[in-house]
Amino acid sequence: MDARYQQIARLLKSSIASGELAAGARLPSSRTFARENGVSRATVEHAYAELVAQGWIERRGQAGSFVSDTVTPGSALPAASLTEGTDNIPQPFQMGLPALDLFPRALWGRLMGRRLRTQTRFDLGPGDVAGERLLRQAIVDYLRFSRSIDCTPEQIFITASYAMSMTLILRTLATAGDGMWVEDPGFPLIRPVIAREQVRLLPVPVDENGMNIDAARALHPQARFVLLTPAHQSPLGVALSLPRRRQLLDWAAHREGWIIEDDYDSEFRYHGKPLPPLKSLDAPQRVIYAGTFSKSLFPAIRTGWIVVPAPHVAAFRRQAAMYPCTVPGLVQLTLADFISQGHFWRHLKNMRQHYARRREWLERALKQQGFDVAAQQGGIQLVIAVTDDDKQLAARANQAGLAVQALSAWQIEGGERRGLLVCFTNISSAEMAEQLAEKLSKAIRPASATHGAAMD
Ligand SMILES: Cc1ncc(COP(=O)(O)O)c(C=O)c1O
Repeated sequence: MDARYQQIARLLKSSIASGELAAGARLPSSRTFARENGVSRATVEHAYAELVAQGWIERRGQAGSFVSDTVTPGSALPAASLTEGTDNIPQPFQMGLPALDLFPRALWGRLMGRRLRTQTRFDLGPGDVAGERLLRQAIVDYLRFSRSIDCTPEQIFITASYAMSMTLILRTLATAGDGMWVEDPGFPLIRPVIAREQVRLLPVPVDENGMNIDAARALHPQARFVLLTPAHQSPLGVALSLPRRRQLLDWAAHREGWIIEDDYDSEFRYHGKPLPPLKSLDAPQRVIYAGTFSKSLFPAIRTGWIVVPAPHVAAFRRQAAMYPCTVPGLVQLTLADFISQGHFWRHLKNMRQHYARRREWLERALKQQGFDVAAQQGGIQLVIAVTDDDKQLAARANQAGLAVQALSAWQIEGGERRGLLVCFTNISSAEMAEQLAEKLSKAIRPASATHGAAMD
């Protein structure tokens, strides 16, 4: 085990290397840092002294300690951390991460402390297999207000992740050999989870109106499931058009098929009004809605949920009895308080404002470097159009410490669509955006960026 001062020094180094702390940025005083992190001032002084000795930071007398002007983002980032993620430190452009600096940790700590102090012995029992009722009620209220989804707490099942949600859905509803339409390109990490349940993945092309339902029916008429991200397609960012939403609901009603609506980041939309979720139009009761707090709060909370059609609650409960909710009761109840006391709303509002700015910073900085950025309505990532082999470009960017992903790596068939996927949530200043865009440009050579859109 490292000494505490070494852990702090390592954390600061990573923040500097990732660009979160830019060159010239002022560090908090050792007294403030010590108070915020619950360590002694001497420990912080020791960590700062080590960083000074190694050239990461400089002391400027009364003015305080500053990140050295000579360091640049990614300068000393160990390449292995891109894949191993041992340090929990976000890498520049890392996909799927919300802004970790914006979460109100002190408030969260107070809410959890209060819950802990007022626990009774009954809170030590196993809890409901579908999750704490208080949290399920808070989610019901949130969904009604923000997504026009009308449901009851019985229809909600709390899970530890999207993968667990998918597992519960398929173990309840699927039979081995069933087929599932999936978006191509689409979120790759869920595919092995689906395949493990012996459900066949049937790729369907995505165009500017989202998943192409006509193509899906023509290519794979035998499907029983469809999985999609209608609010904001992952990763292209398009919305499923209203006619296609109707078409899909019709298909499900006639075919007795199931629609899995992955609404992973619909909270983040910067222009226009969102279309109604499929679940809010679900007269035939064929939609299972999947939500997560990974994007709206933070991934370490490891809490998601599904909303299941009322006639199938009993079947889902029978499955959930075999795989009860694994999110600790204390976390669930803290989360319920966070939502019902209005903090969730305030946090989302704050995130939306910051994200709009961070997105603009990155978009502008990328365009200044000659990159072509495809327009998106919302979400937390951008797609840069390229014509060269995007996997090679992404590999070069990764070597430079930038966690860029290739669009073609998200495709099942063809892979003719090329682009680079970048997430902007942890870019905390215009300067940081400029430094990172320049670094990306240098890493992959600007000559390879083009002016053709990724949607072509
Ligand atoms: C498309 C998509 N769906 C769902 C999720 C949520 O997954 P989890 O709840 O496991 O964090 C993610 C996370 O990155 C995602 O990108």
